[in-house]
Amino acid sequence: MLLQGVRASLACAAFAGIIAATSMAQGGAQGMDLGINGRKAIVCASTQGLGFACALSLANEGCVVWINGRNAARLASAAEQIRRETHGVVQTVQADINTEAGRAALLSACPAPDILVNNNAGPPPGQLADWDHAAWIAALEANLLAGVLLIRGVLPGMRARRFGRIVNITSAAVKTPRASLGLSTAARAGLTAVSKALAREAVVDNVTINQLLPERFDTARQEFMARRLMAEHGISREQARQQLADALPARRLGRPDEFGAACAYLCAAQAGFITGQNLQLDGGAYTGLV
Ligand SMILES: NC(=O)c1ccc[n+]([C@@H]2O[C@H](COP(=O)([O-])OP(=O)(O)OC[C@H]3O[C@@H](n4cnc5c(N)ncnc54)[C@H](OP(=O)(O)O)[C@@H]3O)[C@@H](O)[C@H]2O)c1
Repeated sequence: MLLQGVRASLACAAFAGIIAATSMAQGGAQGMDLGINGRKAIVCASTQGLGFACALSLANEGCVVWINGRNAARLASAAEQIRRETHGVVQTVQADINTEAGRAALLSACPAPDILVNNNAGPPPGQLADWDHAAWIAALEANLLAGVLLIRGVLPGMRARRFGRIVNITSAAVKTPRASLGLSTAARAGLTAVSKALAREAVVDNVTINQLLPERFDTARQEFMARRLMAEHGISREQARQQLADALPARRLGRPDEFGAACAYLCAAQAGFITGQNLQLDGGAYTGLV
């Protein structure tokens, strides 16, 4: 009996050893190795919020990241934080990606990127009567054309090098259009459509294009929404934030690091078979089946 027990424990220990060794070989002890150490990543609009979270996650995976924003002080402090937390290499490009010159500055700072994360500020909510021709053009410039033109700038090189990961940060409003988010829905749906078509062509060269669709992540945007609720209903910040969270089945706001982790996975070496997809990160808010 005793001998059997000893044999069983030895077998268990050996099995655990194999699992541990396998998991170490796959980077398991440190988390999954995404196979993108040393890859070059441009992350647009990334001095705070979701873009920043993506840059931080990619830097954590060993990518060299080019972060971007218009405000020099925010850019410097974001770069410093990523360096401090990851010991990674971070370059900064102060540029407005709604302009040709801004996009050219990003592409000349990192001419052969392996990864492009398209992000930008979102258009303001409102209603149809508010949106004149200029409002539509501004939304299309920021949330359709900026992304498409950056993809145009990087896609041929990625295909020639046989590796590329493009992630567009869009919005839950793409799959759940709301009248008050008409500018956002329309412009981002356009980016999603052209990306889908390009994704089908590019995947043969190991270049993928996917979208991340956020809903209620705890960023400056949700602070703005909370302040609006506070003013409208005369409630405290905590009450306002709870109201925002209660609209989601998860009953909490999303954490930017959860968003960054999803982005890093879509950029992984192992994610080369995932393309043209729209991944919702929404605490269960989406009610549709597909
Ligand atoms: N947070 C959410 O729950 C949520 C939900 C749905 C959709 N979204 C969408 O996801 C995107 C990111 O949201 P977020 O909450 O992370 O936003 P955020 O916290 O407001 O951050 C926006 C970032 O974009 C930069 N930026 C803005 N305009 C730029 C420009 N023209 N050129 C270069 N950089 C620019 C900002 O830096 P500078 O100001 O220094 O340029 C900042 O770093 C937005 O499109 C938002 O509408 C977010």
